[in-house]
Amino acid sequence: MNILVLGSGGREHAIVVSLAASPLSSTVFVAPGNGGTASAARNVALDMMDAQAVVAFAKEHGVGLVVIGPEAPLVAGVGDAVREAGIACFGPGAAGARMEGSKRFSKEFMGRHGIPTAAFGAFDTADAALAFLDGREAPIVVKADGLAAGKGVTVAATIDEATAAVRECFAGRFGKAGATVVIEECMAGPECSLLVFTDGQRVLPMAPAQDHKRAHEGDTGPNTGGMGVYSPVPLVTADEYACMLSYMERTVAGLAAEGIDYRGVLYGGFMLTPEGPKVLEFNARFGDPETQVLLPRLRSDLVEVMYAAAQGDLGGVELAWDDGWAVSVVLASAGYPGTYEKGKAITGIAPAEAVLGVTVYHAGTRLGEDGVPVTDGGRVLNVTALGSSFAEARTRAYEAADLISFEGKWLRRDIGARMLAVS
Ligand code: AMP
Ligand code: GLY
Repeated sequence: MNILVLGSGGREHAIVVSLAASPLSSTVFVAPGNGGTASAARNVALDMMDAQAVVAFAKEHGVGLVVIGPEAPLVAGVGDAVREAGIACFGPGAAGARMEGSKRFSKEFMGRHGIPTAAFGAFDTADAALAFLDGREAPIVVKADGLAAGKGVTVAATIDEATAAVRECFAGRFGKAGATVVIEECMAGPECSLLVFTDGQRVLPMAPAQDHKRAHEGDTGPNTGGMGVYSPVPLVTADEYACMLSYMERTVAGLAAEGIDYRGVLYGGFMLTPEGPKVLEFNARFGDPETQVLLPRLRSDLVEVMYAAAQGDLGGVELAWDDGWAVSVVLASAGYPGTYEKGKAITGIAPAEAVLGVTVYHAGTRLGEDGVPVTDGGRVLNVTALGSSFAEARTRAYEAADLISFEGKWLRRDIGARMLAVS
């Protein structure tokens, strides 16, 4: 089967590697892809936000399965257009993608289905939001309703900070995404993600993963797309896992009950509070960089799993996983998550991949004129290592990460450091 993957990050590189390894795939296309996907698949210059162009390409190239990586095309309804054209699509349509695309929608959905989450209010005007803040206590969380590339959340330490965040949102900082503001109770506890495959009815869970969103060591500094991740997560107890899984099942059942046919990955972001796990947010897709530690441990055929989910029938599918551990460290460009330069030559990827258990996924790279990869984004590479213990995977990941060079390269040295004691 020919497959078309939409996206250009480390997540898509990991997806493409797993799809290309399957005997069920013929040509894997990726639009637009990056410097790493080019060696596992065929990069194509196609605007992934242009649903008609995606459908036309898929028809012309006999594509039997479209896999949508990022949230923007999901929220824009590219999945609906692909399915309407009679092509199997892994990824929900616009209705399901609202679970990520509108925080108000997902909070109200959780309310309707009894899924524990932070108490909240949603407001369409600055006056109403500011009136709600009046007399409240900090910390308190202010969120733009729509997609804001991970920058729409302010965990405000003071009411003044929350007030400023509300004003910025309504002043248009996030465009239309900030036309509604959600204000939430601030929860405390470690965070953990649970991703599940679903065909709209059945739920096949993956192992929990823990991302590190802050730029600097000790979980300080500005938020990023994620600086490193590991899976599974030893601090999650069996009870907490069962609880998170039951919320994911309840969510999928709730979507079906509301007439939303959700096929793809549903990502639950949880906080493990003293009262038990509560949902922070849902994403309508694989996480980045979570995917880069989840898929390398998947022993099942990803084409089979994705196609079955896209066809609405995961009934005969069972997931098999590697027993080991996976750790992924992000190598970033100087200045990220602020402004950074591009076009720096990258060396050392081959020696890094020679370290046992290591795969280097490309995120922000492109191939330079001489075929040498150069930096092309803030998060440049994801160095993933598997190991039979957490410590082994982590040691391998850092050993490999240190073999790679590009001007301005930096990384967090403490990915999973706190876990060493408990694994
Ligand atoms: P989100 O984009 O909704 O995942 O939010 C980004 C980050 O903000 C989360 O990973 C949390 O660290 C933090 N956050 C979001 N909502 C809350 C909340 N209600 N309480 C505490 N922290 C939160
Ligand atoms: N790693 C967080 C996300 O993909 O949203």
